[in-house]
Amino acid sequence: MSSEFKRTLVTAALPYANGPVHIGHLAGCYLPADIYVRYLRSIGHDVKFVCGSDEHGVPITIKAKKEHTTPQAVVDKYHQMMGDAFNEFGISFDIYSRTSSKTHHNTAADFFTTLYNKNGFTEEITQQYYDENAKQFLADRYITGTCPKCANPNAYGDQCEKCGTSLSPTELIEPKSALSGSKPVLKETKNWFLPLDKLQPKIKAYLEQHSDWKSNVYGQCKSWLDSGDGLQPRAMTRDLDWGVPVPLKGAEGKVLYVWFDAPIGYISATKDLLPERWEDYWKSKESRLIHFIGKDNIVFHCIIFPAMLMEHGDFILPDNVPANEFLNLEGDKISTSRNWAVWLHEYLIDFKNQQDVLRYTLCANAPETKDNDFTWKDFQTRNNSELVAIFGNFVNRTLVLTQKYYNGKVPVASSYTKEDLLVLEELTAAPQKISAAIEQFKFREALSEWMQVARSGNKYLAENEPWKLIATNEERVKTIMNVALQITCNLAILAEPFLPFASQKLFALLNVQPLKWLSAKNSNNLPDGHQINQPELLFAKIEDEQIQFQIDRLQKSKLENELNKPLKEIKAETSFDDFSKMDIRTATILQAEAVPKTDKLLKLLLDTGVDQRTVVSGIAAYYKPEDIIGQKVCLLANLAPRKIKGIESKGMILMAENAKGELCFVSPTNLNFDNGAMVK
Ligand code: MF3
Ligand code: ZN
Repeated sequence: MSSEFKRTLVTAALPYANGPVHIGHLAGCYLPADIYVRYLRSIGHDVKFVCGSDEHGVPITIKAKKEHTTPQAVVDKYHQMMGDAFNEFGISFDIYSRTSSKTHHNTAADFFTTLYNKNGFTEEITQQYYDENAKQFLADRYITGTCPKCANPNAYGDQCEKCGTSLSPTELIEPKSALSGSKPVLKETKNWFLPLDKLQPKIKAYLEQHSDWKSNVYGQCKSWLDSGDGLQPRAMTRDLDWGVPVPLKGAEGKVLYVWFDAPIGYISATKDLLPERWEDYWKSKESRLIHFIGKDNIVFHCIIFPAMLMEHGDFILPDNVPANEFLNLEGDKISTSRNWAVWLHEYLIDFKNQQDVLRYTLCANAPETKDNDFTWKDFQTRNNSELVAIFGNFVNRTLVLTQKYYNGKVPVASSYTKEDLLVLEELTAAPQKISAAIEQFKFREALSEWMQVARSGNKYLAENEPWKLIATNEERVKTIMNVALQITCNLAILAEPFLPFASQKLFALLNVQPLKWLSAKNSNNLPDGHQINQPELLFAKIEDEQIQFQIDRLQKSKLENELNKPLKEIKAETSFDDFSKMDIRTATILQAEAVPKTDKLLKLLLDTGVDQRTVVSGIAAYYKPEDIIGQKVCLLANLAPRKIKGIESKGMILMAENAKGELCFVSPTNLNFDNGAMVK
């Protein structure tokens, strides 16, 4: 740990209080922050870890409207739920605060006033949409209309979710207020802007001092600075009634922009934690400020918040912002609205007391430098082949054999072989390697160094086979078991940042008080004759059925979503002439067989009333050949013939396709309509 700093304040992004916590949050931000902090505590560094709920912003007001309740009720509910989830997963905040608190409102308002008094803002009058029925200005999200790019009639004032274009509200065709449905009017309003354009040189100089930041972070900052016209002034106040009121005369009905007040939440949380000493962490050159965040927050923490802090003048600036990329789930973007997520509160029900398995998997797969994927299969493998088969197996064998041979008393090592010494050397070198990785925010690497220690231990036992040797060389077995026990103890120390629950349990099994990081540089933490407790398993195998259950649940939510999808819009107009060119008629399937080497296609022989012909159809996923002999269908009979898999296909069978993409036959409902009846 570099010694220029006396203390460190670690923050984790304040999550919006409008939904529960999922694995993406954990992997992106809270888990790495927690590992880092636990490590710093273990080496005896002065560290504080603050977080809290981000309770302002438009999405929370929208959620409240939808649920016919108040924004305060929404944030109360989720603040509690998120705090509980973090706690259950061992995310060891020193405080989990919230931005609707009094401390925060005062702190944010004071911060704004200081900047205002220093002429830190420019005032600008802009035209904003206003709802005359609801008598209020409309946030971008509260305006819907037709997308100018793709004609989606339900685009939002900031973005069209159909084509992904980002919009400004005035670009929408036929804008509508989401509050009253009425047509909003443009009205002048005054807001206060942070002149990022003027601050650009200072921000640039600040960033250039930190070219050692993670490349994904530094790269994103650079591209903001270098893009087009560079940084633009940004409004720090909004016409909205939920948030911290703007502390100025004549600013009634306006609040601070949520991204202005939220990062100040880190300061308020520190104040709540240490009312007397909070300034030590924010105003001393000997203190270091580290922000853990996900990649969508980079610009706010690396550019806007530092700019606010610089302009204020009293505060230190972030020293590092080790942002992660995104975690996907089973190949798809995690999405709350599509319920494509693994929710922490649900995980805890299905995998009771197995928090460390998720912590381990998420750390081993953390999206540190690029987006990464969580799959349930990988989760199972990580547990069964690593936690159970390597770490758990090693520890359990060691504890069981110690009970069996020595009634649980640590045996004396009489003399070490060269091989023993090598293993011990590797053991005592491990803390340094793991430290180096953690201090560079390379948590995956750190974890894999830790697992390497368990792997060596496992190998050591397997090669020495004390269970065989006990018959012939009791003295040698004592040394082997002593070495294995020392490895076990050091594994407990080094596991603590990553797997705090397993670490604690292992210390209890070893019957020692938890030891700190530096002790892992020794290989004699368990004294001769020390009594250990009865062994218990640290990790249990996860069965295929448990994994299948999770996969099925995800699949189900995917299907539900697809069924809820709006139906496809009506295609562009076509002419009656074009339609009448098509010869559509009823026909009967006479024969059906699978097309070899494909799983989609069936080869069908059809009777059209005027001929018999072969048609290849992509329906094998929905119908078995033997079930459809005699089926009446509709056929587009004059479609130009095509060769499919070497088979000439003449025409196309009409199928109906539902929102899930499933197919079914369209056929006449009255059997008097024999082959060849025309469909018009
Ligand atoms: N609530 C924001 C999000 O979830 C993060 C806010 S971080 C803070 O993306 F710095 F503003 F607090
Ligand atoms: Zn669009």
